[in-house]
Amino acid sequence: MQPMELPAVQPTVLTGIQPSGVPTLGNYLGFFKPALSFQATHRAYYFIVDHHAITARQAPADLLANTREVAAWYLAAGLNPENPNNPATLFVQSHVRAHVELGWILNTFTQMGELERMTQYKDKSVQHAQNINVGLFGYPVLQAADILLYNATDVPVGDDQKQHVELCRDIALRFNHHYGTSTFHVPKHTIPPHGARVRDLQDPTKKMSKSRPGLGCVLLTDTPEEVEKKFKRAVTDSDTGPDAIRYAPEEKPGVANLLEIIAGCRDQTPQQAAVQLHGQQYGALKAEAAAAVNAMLQPLQAAQQGWLQNTQKLDDVLRRGAAQAEPVANATLARVKAAMGYLPPL
Ligand code: TRP
Repeated sequence: MQPMELPAVQPTVLTGIQPSGVPTLGNYLGFFKPALSFQATHRAYYFIVDHHAITARQAPADLLANTREVAAWYLAAGLNPENPNNPATLFVQSHVRAHVELGWILNTFTQMGELERMTQYKDKSVQHAQNINVGLFGYPVLQAADILLYNATDVPVGDDQKQHVELCRDIALRFNHHYGTSTFHVPKHTIPPHGARVRDLQDPTKKMSKSRPGLGCVLLTDTPEEVEKKFKRAVTDSDTGPDAIRYAPEEKPGVANLLEIIAGCRDQTPQQAAVQLHGQQYGALKAEAAAAVNAMLQPLQAAQQGWLQNTQKLDDVLRRGAAQAEPVANATLARVKAAMGYLPPL
């Protein structure tokens, strides 16, 4: 049998997000924005992981609506499938069947013990104690398939996903080693260049998350009034001195979080934001954060609504995206099966 070799690998970025609920300000500054910045330098694949979302029960109408809504956030945030020099690809995971097929194959290269150690699995098993399904357990294997199908070199994801990307690397190396091939390109986990780590406004020791809704969590759909209210109530500290506003994440997590948010919205560093507000009171800091967020959110919301009002155009982007992704994914799958000795379709 002819061994099928990995094509020369060009810088390729790939990342995904679940279509579950409205994304948060943390998702925008920590995920969408930094992930999309790779479009300038990389062949780029962005997708919506509906197969991952169903590991927690989804109402059908919500899954359907959320899939288009997340696609619209990607596009509103600057994903550009029309760039003539380097069009980015946006697609829905379930539209490319090779994900599930490679996921199945990689199940046999993944040990139970490895998956039992995944912290996201452990956390979610506590959150969804009545539905610890096999899909939830195998979630990181499907994620490994997602990454490996496109020969990704860079996978920008948050810290909470680092363990999954490391597992993906282990699986890829194990496979290549077992068959003595270079079937898979082994990717790296990339901490995005300017990824802000946005914390909960009420508890700045925790990551901002839609699983903790309320005053501490700013949603991308929030009105200007909601944004102002949430920042007004943000937790800071009791420091009232002239030096209260400075960037010191360990010592002053609440203040640091507000500075990171301002900086993220304005493409500055948090230190620069601190210099501009130095000597002022926390009331001014909170008002500035709300203003920075609202100035960013308003055009973003308008652009997202624009896409949602034209679902035909949106679906067209997704259809073309899947058509671009599919041959790349299928070529990898064919390489995998050839390496393993599967009889090709007759
Ligand atoms: N598990 C990721 C998350 O929860 C989403 C995801 C699925 C992903 N497949 C991926 C991210 C592949 C990067 C690459 O956010």
